[in-house]
Amino acid sequence: MQALVLTPATRSASVQEIPIPTPGPGEVLIRVRAVAINPVDQIYFAEPIAAQAQRVLGVDFAGEVVGRHADLKNSSDKRVKIGERVAGFVQGANSVNDRPGAFAQYVVSPHDLLWTIPSTLLYEQASTVSMCALTVAQALFPRFGLPSPFWNSQVPIPHDEDETINMLIYGSSSSLGFYGAQLVHLAAQASGRRIRLIGTASSRKHALLSAEPYGYDVLLDYRDPEWPAKVRDATGGVGVHYALDTISERDTVGKVHSTLYKHGKYHVFRSPSGGQYNTSDAAIQPAYGTVWEGLGHVIDYGDGHVFSAPPESREFAIKFYEFLSSAVDGGKVALEPNPVRKMPGGLERIVPDAFALLSGLVSDRRDKDRQGQDDHSRPISGEKLVYSID
Ligand SMILES: NC(=O)c1ccc[n+]([C@@H]2O[C@H](COP(=O)([O-])OP(=O)(O)OC[C@H]3O[C@@H](n4cnc5c(N)ncnc54)[C@H](OP(=O)(O)O)[C@@H]3O)[C@@H](O)[C@H]2O)c1
Repeated sequence: MQALVLTPATRSASVQEIPIPTPGPGEVLIRVRAVAINPVDQIYFAEPIAAQAQRVLGVDFAGEVVGRHADLKNSSDKRVKIGERVAGFVQGANSVNDRPGAFAQYVVSPHDLLWTIPSTLLYEQASTVSMCALTVAQALFPRFGLPSPFWNSQVPIPHDEDETINMLIYGSSSSLGFYGAQLVHLAAQASGRRIRLIGTASSRKHALLSAEPYGYDVLLDYRDPEWPAKVRDATGGVGVHYALDTISERDTVGKVHSTLYKHGKYHVFRSPSGGQYNTSDAAIQPAYGTVWEGLGHVIDYGDGHVFSAPPESREFAIKFYEFLSSAVDGGKVALEPNPVRKMPGGLERIVPDAFALLSGLVSDRRDKDRQGQDDHSRPISGEKLVYSID
């Protein structure tokens, strides 16, 4: 098969012919039809941590099941059926330890970490969901402890029954932000509590974010230096009970911290070194984790940073993808996918086109001069880059 293969020693990648992977116990083989590009793909391409001579890049994929391990022969699970349309994510080259990559014509995945794509979704749309939606779900449900329709956190919301819960999503038009808003509405439904959803995004995205399925109550422009004060005003001075900083770069973390209620919780999605921030003096420390723990494998980031793989994280991921699959019979979607920017070409264009757009900090992307500024090279704003894999 063809795959986009990283050579860590030379920090380069090329499309190469490599063997089609063989599914192990509990795994299926998927013919990849579309892949979505995430910032993390570019980060560990530019600064590889992979310890092998070569690794397949790529995380998010959608495609059809074309094979399965013999132990799944008698399984009645739809996700092992030949021809079933499924989506999922793998770790790609984002670890020292060897893991499968998705930027290829075929990928193997544990069947229980896939979800079934409803007929109303294109492969390109479905490929945007798996990694980013799980990332935010991990933050809101197991880490914040909010109630959800598919996972019993058993932690009651620690605020009076009649109190409105204030939730801030900083970076509402990021991929994480789009899924975050939808998941917050599910938390409100599951808890029966009123959640006031406050967001920050560039003004031109406010109409989209006010409408369903995002339904923000309050939207502010993050370029307005007064936005943290305006967030506090929107909460009647109480502060926000929960905040997601989906950007987590430089001063965003401190500003989000300044909006918090005295016992508020907030979550960052980059490490202090990656996001260039420091919270050592902050009164409240943020929650942080990596989405990979949902895959159930220990993750070695090198330099002594080894993340464990608690069994409950994999259990949560299984429940989450069952929840996404649950809408399929009605042809519905449990979560609306990100708006998509379909990029021209295939695997061979990911490094020169998509990675060029994703390089550097998320907050610095807009400042870059893009030659030509055609439809495919304009800065990313509220959309996911996807490639069809023929
Ligand atoms: N910890 C984990 O497991 C994990 C998992 C997934 C992602 N991440 C990280 O989370 C971050 C977000 O990823 P993503 O895929 O959601 O990003 P993304 O979709 O590429 O984000 C692009 C959006 O960011 C917005 N933006 C840029 N600078 C901003 C700023 N200073 N303040 C507010 N919004 C700003 C832009 O909004 P406008 O168009 O409105 O300007 C743009 O729409 C990345 O750093 C990624 O590496 C971590």
